[in-house]
Amino acid sequence: MELEDTALIKKWRFDWSNYDFFYEFTPVSTHAQHIWMEKTVTARNEMNFIAEVLPAHTPFGMIALLDIDLRNQKAELGRVLVGDMSQRGKGRGKMMVQLLCNYAFNHLNLHKVYCEVFADNARALETYLKCGFEQTGIRKKHIYKNGSFKDIVLLEKLNDPR
Ligand SMILES: CC(C)(COP(=O)(O)OP(=O)(O)OC[C@H]1O[C@@H](n2cnc3c(N)ncnc32)[C@H](O)[C@@H]1OP(=O)(O)O)[C@@H](O)C(=O)NCCC(=O)NCCS
Repeated sequence: MELEDTALIKKWRFDWSNYDFFYEFTPVSTHAQHIWMEKTVTARNEMNFIAEVLPAHTPFGMIALLDIDLRNQKAELGRVLVGDMSQRGKGRGKMMVQLLCNYAFNHLNLHKVYCEVFADNARALETYLKCGFEQTGIRKKHIYKNGSFKDIVLLEKLNDPR
């Protein structure tokens, strides 16, 4: 992710059709988005990526490793979004998650990647399960969204080459 991606990320992230999938959904000004980008691309404990279709390098999504903890060798997978709607349901989400886990385990030498998802986000849940994540818990009525408290599913994937 680069500062030049600011407008694209603002457009994808605050597309109202993504409202149901993210805990926070507060559309921001371009200035506020710039400030967020400055902080995000320089953060030392996270890595944010834009995913592209080759060979034209057409951006279609974003994904990140957050709270990278090198002592305990773990990180949270987050900001997972196939922003270009025409690219959804083509295996691209799965590919992004698999590639980033591969990078986390085989380059950063992490041993665990974890994430959480709204229990009713079937497509995201399926994506994580198909990428080898295991469900480790549920937080009941944990996040207030759209007028009610919603359940959250906790997932994790260990670098266990057994
Ligand atoms: C979740 C998301 C990243 C998945 O990416 P995608 O490219 O659409 O998904 P894929 O094509 O890789 O499909 C992955 C799996 O999801 C499942 N899936 C696909 N469409 C589905 C649907 N409409 N309902 C339920 N499951 C579905 C399938 O099991 C599929 O695996 P398969 O192709 O081997 O059968 C993408 O849909 C997205 O950006 N959603 C909105 C944002 C979001 O929910 N982010 C996650 C927040 S935790």
